[in-house]
Amino acid sequence: MFELLAWVEQSALADTLRGAGVWTYGLLNLAHILGIGSLFGAVLILDLRLLGAWRSIPIATIARPTVPLAAAGFLLAVSSGILMISFNATEYLGNPFLYIKLPVIVFGLANVAVIQRLPAWRHALAGVDAETAERRVLAVAGAISLLTWLTVITCGRMIGYW
Ligand code: HEM
Repeated sequence: MFELLAWVEQSALADTLRGAGVWTYGLLNLAHILGIGSLFGAVLILDLRLLGAWRSIPIATIARPTVPLAAAGFLLAVSSGILMISFNATEYLGNPFLYIKLPVIVFGLANVAVIQRLPAWRHALAGVDAETAERRVLAVAGAISLLTWLTVITCGRMIGYW
């Protein structure tokens, strides 16, 4: 692990970032926060709908703006996060919150891949009225998603306090 973090910290990209001025880290942190806000804001609305809130609004209608917004927020959070970590990567060695956060992000992505393959999700996007069993499946998927991203955010916030 140390070798990997040391390699990241000594990379040409990290050197360039560190030499780019005192505002660089702060601006990357700002991008990280904007990415997190877009990701979690969108996920919160979609997942609460999957859990049964606002039943009069079709899932397809809610998914149309929230899914691309969550994807864009995720890409911004991941790219800014990688750049932030490269600033002083070895400082994060042994940080349990980072070690929990990164695999949970991978789990969150796997969960998205699973949801997209669920017949219940496909039916919902096609506007088919869900039966009770499908509603339950979607509610479980929404709950897992919410817990996953809340865990990532909590770990992200705690990294600096270790
Ligand atoms: C590969 C992906 C990611 C990497 C490498 C990464 C890395 C980082 C780093 C280095 C920090 C600063 C820690 C510190 O020194 O205080 C941070 C903060 C944070 N990250 Fe990430 N991150 C990633 C993705 C995400 C995602 C997807 C989320 C949320 C869904 C997230 C949530 C947070 C939060 C809430 C903070 C605290 C921000 C603050 O208080 O200023 N991160 N992340």
